[in-house]
Amino acid sequence: MSQTTQPVHGNYHGYYMKRPFFQDPRLSVIPDSYFIGARVLDVGCNEGWVTCEIAQSKGAGKAVGVDIDDTLVRAAWKRRRYVWSMQEPQQTMDGERDAPAGPKKRKRTSEGTDPSATMEPQLSRPDYFPASCEHMFGPLPIPPASHGKQQETFPHNVTFRTADWVNQEILEDSEGYNIVLALSVSKWIHLNGGDEGLTRFFRRVHSVLRLGGRFILEPQEWESYAKARRMDPRLKENAHGLKLRPEHFESTLQDIGFGGVEHLGQTGEGGRCSRHPGRKRPPRLKSCQDFDDQSMYI
Ligand SMILES: C[S@@+](CC[C@H](N)C(=O)[O-])C[C@H]1O[C@@H](n2cnc3c(N)ncnc32)[C@H](O)[C@@H]1O
Repeated sequence: MSQTTQPVHGNYHGYYMKRPFFQDPRLSVIPDSYFIGARVLDVGCNEGWVTCEIAQSKGAGKAVGVDIDDTLVRAAWKRRRYVWSMQEPQQTMDGERDAPAGPKKRKRTSEGTDPSATMEPQLSRPDYFPASCEHMFGPLPIPPASHGKQQETFPHNVTFRTADWVNQEILEDSEGYNIVLALSVSKWIHLNGGDEGLTRFFRRVHSVLRLGGRFILEPQEWESYAKARRMDPRLKENAHGLKLRPEHFESTLQDIGFGGVEHLGQTGEGGRCSRHPGRKRPPRLKSCQDFDDQSMYI
């Protein structure tokens, strides 16, 4: 997909340049326990910043980022190497340095190790080396994972794929996911595929979630569709046919089989509100869970 064409899928290049370098505030409203040991799919991963953070700092067992734009996916692989190059080296059991973050540790109680307690990842400092090191000397090589457990730690636990995930499967789908994230992507799927495309997307998410899994959705507000559809005549035409509105998404998801909604909150960051340009538009983060089946929705 060429950079010279309009980003009609929201496939912005340099999207993260105005965001915090580490720690996306949207992730802070999602309980860490959701991610620990989880298989996570990040639909519309763009340049992979959020996917890498989930893999590195949230204790995910596997984080898969998928994006429709191959140039962004290639940038996401570079981000992985960049993040790895800044990470604090970990001392492993055999005394090696420069290894990925160590194994996850169990929470201790007065009676000893509690296997049911939340598993907390043993984290390396993500900003141990200054960014200038990578600029001056290039990225550090990534050693191969020496044992199975390392496959579940950064950077071995993150992978990226190019696909229009609404219409194409990727290899990792077959094993299912504990979490599917869709941050700031529903508008683009909606404008490109219409109500039918968005509903297909929600159905696909439902089908790949494991039992007890969660769908975490950050829907864009309807007001923001106006600017996007001016980008391209096809989006404009599609927009005319839209009957679903973001406020209907909860009931659409419940019709598909998702359960109760959990509203995770607002982060207070984001772009400017189109109606009130002086005011910040806080993205809404809400969630819903189906305890009988398997799903959750923000
Ligand atoms: C506005 S960006 C949001 C990036 C990221 N999710 C975030 O919030 O930080 C939307 C991303 O979704 C991707 N995208 C849009 N439609 C897609 C589709 N059908 N399948 C996969 N990726 C898609 C775009 O290429 C773009 O990178």
